[in-house]
Amino acid sequence: MNNEANSQLRDLYAAWSTLDAKHQPNYPAPEELEAVVDYLRTMPPLVFAGEADKLTSLMARASQGEAFVLQGGDCAETFETATADRIRSKIRTILQMAVVLTYGASVPVIKLGRMAGQYAKPRSNATEVRDGIALPSYMGDAVNGFEFTPESRTPDPRRLIEMYQRSATTLNLIRAFTAGGFADLSKVHEWNLGFASNPAYKRYNQLAGEIDKAMKFMEAAGANSESLRTVDFYSSHEALLLNYEHAMTRVDSRTGNLYNTGAHFLWIGERTRGINDAHVEMLSRIHNPIGVKLGPNVSADEVKALIDKINPEGKAGRLTLITRMGAQTITEQLPPIIEAVQRDGRPITWITDPMHGNTISASNGYKTRRMSDVVKEISEFFTVHSEMGSCPGGVHIELTGDDVTEVLGGAEEIFEDTLSTRYETLVDPRLNHQQSLETAFLVSEILRETS
Ligand code: PEP
Ligand code: CO
Repeated sequence: MNNEANSQLRDLYAAWSTLDAKHQPNYPAPEELEAVVDYLRTMPPLVFAGEADKLTSLMARASQGEAFVLQGGDCAETFETATADRIRSKIRTILQMAVVLTYGASVPVIKLGRMAGQYAKPRSNATEVRDGIALPSYMGDAVNGFEFTPESRTPDPRRLIEMYQRSATTLNLIRAFTAGGFADLSKVHEWNLGFASNPAYKRYNQLAGEIDKAMKFMEAAGANSESLRTVDFYSSHEALLLNYEHAMTRVDSRTGNLYNTGAHFLWIGERTRGINDAHVEMLSRIHNPIGVKLGPNVSADEVKALIDKINPEGKAGRLTLITRMGAQTITEQLPPIIEAVQRDGRPITWITDPMHGNTISASNGYKTRRMSDVVKEISEFFTVHSEMGSCPGGVHIELTGDDVTEVLGGAEEIFEDTLSTRYETLVDPRLNHQQSLETAFLVSEILRETS
């Protein structure tokens, strides 16, 4: 690396490391962290700056209604479940949802996995108490172990190396699946492994039949476009652990700009978006497309300050606001924020996260969500945006490709007393495969009605 690049990375470090960095692990041996960061800095990039730029221009299209973003994946990936089977079912779920949206609503879908790096979580409480014993909360596999013992819960910086390796192998598999024939649209039938008696699967099978016919027609007519055989699939995660994110940040040799090469798209959460804090400072300095989560208490002034800081020049696709207001409050809380953005005039890509404002405790103690709230927040999001002449650009969903029972409701209904059947998440509850498909059909109907 040349001196100029080194000095840019040093400036970046100086800029964020002197500010308040919320939700960072308390490592017992800072020198071990330093050694890990030095090592990660020598590792190859996982994504290229040019790919991030391409995603920025796609996100720009979504800000104008010319494309739609489907961002989805686990609340937190785990090292144990970063297996070929689990990754394949997640990709398949997202591809199926994208097909439903593309074919049903005639809009290009930007596929953005909450995958290949989503290994760290901010937690409401820094410590967890069980039977009078207090230990650090589980912050995701990138930080510590889930098991409730002092050894497992003590943050270990070597886990950042495993985060990098798991992200690399996951992304490699994503790239192989999406370029190597798995995503071929003539295989849409094969992606459906659910029982045809389920309403969402039945509808999906019908749609797959229509797509088959369309594909045959196009082949007969001589069209055999490469774009029907492969898809672009982008990676994203919450940029929480600033030492890791810094280690993955590199200077792009084409432009001299800083890019985070650990994922295409990075977002900061509701809890780390303080305008004078380290997370916002770091992300304002990298050139990837950036997301910021906004909860119900965000003010118009805060949104304006975030735009000033992260997208001062008003580049379309640069800044995505991911609102997670809650189904009960979105109609009150969202309009003033949209209004502030409209007054400001700089372009924003709007995404709804119908998950994080709708987390509840079931009477038997399970952390869960109601499918009906998820659906309500999505439809209110569309209604509010279209009433205000603003453009709803996408959805952000916590989902898995497996048949878990973590979210209440759905066509194959999950009740409070069936949550325990297959409740696997270590953090937030995810839509299962069929609930995800149901959601895609719903969004595709809304898109069709409002376009
Ligand atoms: C999340 O995306 O898992 C999350 C913690 O979201 P938020 O920052 O919106 O609470
Ligand atoms: Co979550």
